[in-house]
Amino acid sequence: MNQTIAVLDFGSQYTQVIARRIRECNVYSKIYPFGTSAATLKADGVIGIILSGGPSSVFAKGAPMPDRAIFDLGVPVLGICYGIQLMGRLLGGTVARGERREYGNGTLRIQRPGRLFAKLPRQLTVWNSHGDKLTALPPGFVAIGTTENSPFAAIEDRRRSFFGIQFHPEVSHSERGVDVLRNFLVGVCGARQDWTTKDFIKHAVANIRTTVGKSRVLLGLSGGVDSSVAAALIHQAIGRRLTCVFVDNGLLRKGERAVVEELYRKHFRIDVRVVDASALFLRRLKGVTDPERKRKIIGNTFVEVFERSLRSVGEAEFLAQGTLYPDVIESVAIAGNPAALIKSHHNVGGLPERMKLKLLEPLRELFKDEVRAVGSALGLPREVVWRQPFPGPGLGVRVVGDITRERLDVLREADAIVQEEMMASEWYWKVWQSFAVYLPVKSVGVIGDERNYADVIGLRIVESRDAMTADWSRLPYDLLQKISSRITNEVRGVSRVVLDISSKPPATIEWE
Ligand code: XMP
Repeated sequence: MNQTIAVLDFGSQYTQVIARRIRECNVYSKIYPFGTSAATLKADGVIGIILSGGPSSVFAKGAPMPDRAIFDLGVPVLGICYGIQLMGRLLGGTVARGERREYGNGTLRIQRPGRLFAKLPRQLTVWNSHGDKLTALPPGFVAIGTTENSPFAAIEDRRRSFFGIQFHPEVSHSERGVDVLRNFLVGVCGARQDWTTKDFIKHAVANIRTTVGKSRVLLGLSGGVDSSVAAALIHQAIGRRLTCVFVDNGLLRKGERAVVEELYRKHFRIDVRVVDASALFLRRLKGVTDPERKRKIIGNTFVEVFERSLRSVGEAEFLAQGTLYPDVIESVAIAGNPAALIKSHHNVGGLPERMKLKLLEPLRELFKDEVRAVGSALGLPREVVWRQPFPGPGLGVRVVGDITRERLDVLREADAIVQEEMMASEWYWKVWQSFAVYLPVKSVGVIGDERNYADVIGLRIVESRDAMTADWSRLPYDLLQKISSRITNEVRGVSRVVLDISSKPPATIEWE
């Protein structure tokens, strides 16, 4: 059992970032809704509590409040932003309504480094975003850091190991922010830093063995990072009692199916059943041009085909899914929090219930970067672990308009060239996504002396952190030139290549 740091979520858009930074320090963190009872935290054996920031004012009607008993648990508490204001309000200090919002970089001057700022410079650039601020210390506290705007930008109650900081140590604009967090975790809470990839794998393998017993597990392999890592992990635990199903929907990229067969079947010796349903998918998509209808048809057909193929694979007790931690966090809905989305937990179309399968989700405690680390440790190649995202509906939403086999083939060839050149130049690893789009327009070209009325391919290559916003990548002209000339020379039926220079918003990453 790993030592746990509880992050109480007051609705900050950075709550997950705090939890990730803690994990980067090799300490296990878990996000709890802000009102979680002290008894629950105690039962979970947490060794420290972090109060996140939040969009609310402590004066607002219905402002989110923690269970006051968390301050009596005898474990260290660190309040960040809204968290420090909560401490001020609940522990007997004074908080004033901010007249103006302090937003952006400021300078933190550290007067008493103590344990929180141990081994750090006396002056740090830190990032702030708050309205209210602490104006009088609660009893027992002293100020340990100040900013231009506040004499109480960082505070400490030594006896109880309570700390408050007005800035956000979790964001990258805060200089040495991770060191401040690490000081809290290790120096204050005494964390052993026992959260490592190797340990995770060891425990996960043991857990899967205990849970599954002598039964069998089915898994839908998409070739994406999450399902691939889940497959490798489960296979390590139960070997041939794992069966993977890979559906060829006819909308895959060039060589994708072959790679799955080669890597998982030959290299890992995983039992992979490839189901070729391309004819069915393409038949149902015939003449459909509306993107949302395409998505529905592809989604529904997938569930149908997948369910049928699972039945044919034989009896099993479990269905494995590559669900990750961000999918299971109960994000708290607080007005003003852009991240406040209650995620519906989506199983493949209610399939597990219909088939009376239990869910096995070995990655549900992990963030994406941790999944990648696990994948690498299990021997998955870089091409899988650092693979760019690929939409579920596949090339179905990259052939703009009517989907035909011919158009898919043209797109596949062009897209393969994009991938080859992006990889050869190493740009593939630097961008978020890079792919070709088939545009349903004909344009005039010449081959030799002949007029050539042919297809147009669009290049969509973007940078992004999370797909919510994106910008087109400034690739070197030489690379664009190479991609373009290879496509027009090598792909029959393409006479023109265009570059998409739209950012998101207002455009989206995909064309449909
Ligand atoms: P957009 O086009 O909305 O894409 O800017 C954002 C990210 O989501 C991916 N995407 C999808 N993924 N099913 C998926 O599983 C879909 O229907 C879908 N549409 C877009 C897209 O590739 C990008 O990473």
